[in-house]
Amino acid sequence: MEIRNVAVLGCGLMGSGIAQVSATAGFEVTVLEVEQKFLDKGFAGIEKSLAKFAEKGNLKEAPQTIRARLKGTTRKQDLADSDMVIEAIVENVAEKRQMFSALDPIVKHKAILASNTSSISITELLSATKRPERMIGMHFFNPVPLMKLVEVIKTIATAPEVYENAYEFAEKLGKVPVRTSDKTGFVVNRLLVPYLLDAIRAYEEGVGSIPDIDNAMKLGCGYPMGPFTLLDFVGLDTTYYITQVMYDEFKERRFASPPLLKRLVMAGWYGRKTGKGFYDYSDPNNPVPGQF
Ligand code: CAA
Ligand code: NAD
Repeated sequence: MEIRNVAVLGCGLMGSGIAQVSATAGFEVTVLEVEQKFLDKGFAGIEKSLAKFAEKGNLKEAPQTIRARLKGTTRKQDLADSDMVIEAIVENVAEKRQMFSALDPIVKHKAILASNTSSISITELLSATKRPERMIGMHFFNPVPLMKLVEVIKTIATAPEVYENAYEFAEKLGKVPVRTSDKTGFVVNRLLVPYLLDAIRAYEEGVGSIPDIDNAMKLGCGYPMGPFTLLDFVGLDTTYYITQVMYDEFKERRFASPPLLKRLVMAGWYGRKTGKGFYDYSDPNNPVPGQF
């Protein structure tokens, strides 16, 4: 099946990135949001990112040409003609199921439905539609325009041609896909999430300060970001939702939210996106570590 029109659901951190790389690869993209202000914010980020790539000579087309392939909407009906739908709304099973169930009668029957979920079972989502064989997981990484990986997730119901189509689509975006199955956390989060949560527990136990733990992992292991910088970057709300899904699945302490993560989320400190998390980003160029 030829993919021309891509729908992206959600224009937050991930949705805006997925929309950007899809438009850069030549697809016509429509992004769905709940309110215009979220589209405005997401598209402003895309324009900034495209300008950076253009400055470095890393775009085959002018940023305006790519930008012209991106449209925003708050009406699901505008997605009717999509060939590929990629969902990147909040990490919540009920919200995602409701979204797929509402779109199912609107989007043309041959379309592929994909979720960018970090942890939720794709099988739990596909039962919200009448086309389980056309549903897959496509898990992108943050920041999408820079991170090469896409995990392509197969369920017991996924049709082989749908899976191969999605795999090829990831390649057309310039990404490197890996094949994985519908096991909670897939490959990366199965391994990454316990590490991030252990960093919080180490801090809670007085092993080191937030910047010392960050520097230790950056300089001692060559990681591009320390765990607290990465947690703030991913979003503490999203990480907290992920812990709930993963703990529910495995019932192992290593997937459970440490108390401090829960408290930061309850306080509304979601990390970079709200200006405060483990660090305070009042001056984005000089984040100040918290002391909790
Ligand atoms: N668009 C275009 N260019 C961008 C950009 C964007 N969105 N973000 C950064 N850049 C550019 C910067 O302008 C900079 O360019 P110059 O070298 O010309 O200055 C360059 O990229 C490098 O950026 P920085 O100097 O700001 O920082 P960096 O060297 O640390 O690289 C990074 C940034 C690639 C994000 C790197 O820090 C990194 O790889 N961090 C780890 C990210 C990671 O682990 N992601 C996975 C998260 S987990 C996940 O996604 C799954 C899940 O389900 C939760
Ligand atoms: P985010 O909070 O930055 O963005 C979510 C966006 O979805 C918001 O703009 C919100 O307004 C919008 N939204 C919520 N409900 C909606 C609805 N019913 N219709 C349309 N739009 C709606 O979150 P994010 O970090 O972009 O995460 C999105 C998804 O991607 C989650 O499932 C998350 O687990 C996954 N993910 C996140 C990361 C990460 O590093 N943050 C990485 C990979 C995957």
